[in-house]
Amino acid sequence: MKKTTGILMSAALMLSMAACGNTAASEGPAAADSAQTKTASPKKILVAYYSYSGNTQAVAQQIAKATGGTLFEITTDHQYPETYNAMTAQAKKEIQSGFKPELTSQPENWADYDMVFVGSPNWWGTYAPAVSAFLAAYDFTGKTVVPFFTHGGGGMQNCERDMKKQLAGATFGAAMTFPGRSSGANEKTLAAWLTQLGAAK
Ligand SMILES: Cc1cc2nc3c(=O)[nH]c(=O)nc-3n(C[C@H](O)[C@H](O)[C@H](O)COP(=O)(O)O)c2cc1C
Repeated sequence: MKKTTGILMSAALMLSMAACGNTAASEGPAAADSAQTKTASPKKILVAYYSYSGNTQAVAQQIAKATGGTLFEITTDHQYPETYNAMTAQAKKEIQSGFKPELTSQPENWADYDMVFVGSPNWWGTYAPAVSAFLAAYDFTGKTVVPFFTHGGGGMQNCERDMKKQLAGATFGAAMTFPGRSSGANEKTLAAWLTQLGAAK
């Protein structure tokens, strides 16, 4: 069950201090990895995201609207405890063990997509187990992966690094982080990033 964003945001500040990893800028393109960055115009875009409390969903919706891409919610059969401390403790254990929940949704016509945005909340300095399960379930050969993350103050931390490690060999576009808000991303920041990626409508 989803908890309120307000609770998550305040507790996230504590978590971000506890989480391992660096504290990169809280908003803005990650340092470009020129060897793995591609900005060609995509033919078809999928905006895949997991969201526990709605912030990442809000950004994903904005991206889909601005790119004309197909919105896809990563869902699982997995439940989290209702109380915040129990929930975050469980999530931490899952991340540490590499747990991947069973996916309960799948994108249609996967082969058709040229560019796949992959969105996640920053959990303990990395992305959520549901996203790890999604990345493990599909072949990203021939696609450009564009990671985006919402966070409670920690910024990128290890999110991009871990995703590049999980999808070793995949082509990546510039990753972006957004402060977690139910109202979504700053429109100007979003538009500049999508233009840079060659993904704006
Ligand atoms: C289990 C858990 C761990 C979190 N860890 C971090 C963290 O390490 N760094 C951070 O900046 N925010 C952290 N947060 C805050 C979330 O990244 C932030 O609230 C995000 O926008 C939530 O996205 P969502 O509403 O799409 O689930 C954490 C939140 C949860 C629930």
